[in-house]
Amino acid sequence: MSSVLPPGPRISGARLAVLLGAWRDGAGRQGASRLATALRELILEGRLVTGTRLPSERELSGVLDASRTLITAAIDRLRHEGLLESRQGAGTWVTVQGARREPGGWAAMAEPGPLDLALASPPAIPELHGAIERATAKMKPLLSSGGHQLQGLLDLRIRIADRFTQRGLPTGPEQILITNGAQHAFALILRTLISPGDRVLMEQPGYPNAFQAVNAVNGRLVATALREDGWCLDGLEASIRQSSPRLAYLMVDFHNPTGMRLSAAERDRLAALLRRTRTTAVIDETLLELDLEGTADTERLPSLAALAPEQTITIGSASKLFWGGLRLGWVRTTPELVHRLGANRLGMDLGSPIMEQLALAELCAEVFEPGSTAIARRLAGFARKRDHLLELIREHCPSWSVRSPTGGLSLWCDLGAPIGPRLAAAARERGVRVVPGDRFSVQGGYRNRLRLPYVLPEEQLTEAIRRIGAAMATLDSAPALDHDEPVISVT
Ligand SMILES: Cc1ncc(COP(=O)(O)O)c(C=O)c1O
Repeated sequence: MSSVLPPGPRISGARLAVLLGAWRDGAGRQGASRLATALRELILEGRLVTGTRLPSERELSGVLDASRTLITAAIDRLRHEGLLESRQGAGTWVTVQGARREPGGWAAMAEPGPLDLALASPPAIPELHGAIERATAKMKPLLSSGGHQLQGLLDLRIRIADRFTQRGLPTGPEQILITNGAQHAFALILRTLISPGDRVLMEQPGYPNAFQAVNAVNGRLVATALREDGWCLDGLEASIRQSSPRLAYLMVDFHNPTGMRLSAAERDRLAALLRRTRTTAVIDETLLELDLEGTADTERLPSLAALAPEQTITIGSASKLFWGGLRLGWVRTTPELVHRLGANRLGMDLGSPIMEQLALAELCAEVFEPGSTAIARRLAGFARKRDHLLELIREHCPSWSVRSPTGGLSLWCDLGAPIGPRLAAAARERGVRVVPGDRFSVQGGYRNRLRLPYVLPEEQLTEAIRRIGAAMATLDSAPALDHDEPVISVT
């Protein structure tokens, strides 16, 4: 099933001029190829999302202070490359040919490779072992029940609700629905709130499995592009006004794949925007607890649910902080919506496994206890791996530019040229699985990016980057890809 993008919004000439920046060279020489290069970068980085309609050539010529001939030549070139399309009467719009829109394969998850930098799935927190033992000992009374608890084990709902309350968001267990992970939580919300054809606004770059979940309910993906250094709330507002999405899906805490976090002031602005436009947003907090600076930011930055309680549904997960194998996540919302989601769940499954829920409740009781150092140790381990990976990149891939994220589990590497898919293919030849940036885009784009998680042991990271550096060195002579690479699953 393919996602059909609605006719895209039109970007104004003034805004495009700002995005293009200094596209002329230092001496001020104009040239169609320079303009084409600057436009190409915007498209491939996903900052001009697929479907965006360009201003007329006449308007562009005015705002860019360039001749019509130059503008036409640059646009012709990108049309020829398949990045733009024009139709009489409809204008010119961004279209990334060959972009993958079909769901990815699941081979990587079914059969992880030895040097697998595709999945941002860390091994279990060591404390899980003891929690499982304690849970096993406590199972006996539960075994005499039928074992179905559609909303989730009360003990666990209390623990999760308490964690929200600790963060300054008073929550009761009646507001929590336990799910089989955050992905299941989002799928359930979509199934409950989205009808075929409804628009769902997603960040670009964004989380590919969330795109896939929208496709699965025949929703229409509307992308809002992030900036290099954060969210573009003006762009988000324009997208909301132009497309009136039924739902927005946002990752404001350690966004996957960029690792960025929305500032306190921007949270206020976003909350006001959601309220003003009456937009419901699913806030995915899967990576929220992965604050690698140890600044207790988690307590300081308000959650969107506190700022726009009527407009937000929060989802979370045990997968990153604790372990993906638990397959447990949650929804925090009103008791009414919890009931609707629960009723809808019956068409999908009849609840989450009790044993795992009990183990997670035991684990939360231990590691969220004041004085426990378990989480600090886990986060310090990720921070060490992040720094190690950055160091390796400086050594083996010096031409890349990479920011050090303050949280999350991956680096969003800028390769300096749209070589991501070719580099991923060359790395695969060397036994390393990596995901090129275009997987994180609604339709194509971000081919100049690679997402590299830092969850493997340090010696494996070292070997993987050494091999990726060697793959980089061969790229100039490597043939262009004339086939679609297998789509790798990601987390
Ligand atoms: C942003 C985001 N949301 C959801 C998920 C899925 O989480 P879960 O394993 O709980 O289904 C992931 C996993 O990588 C993720 O990064």
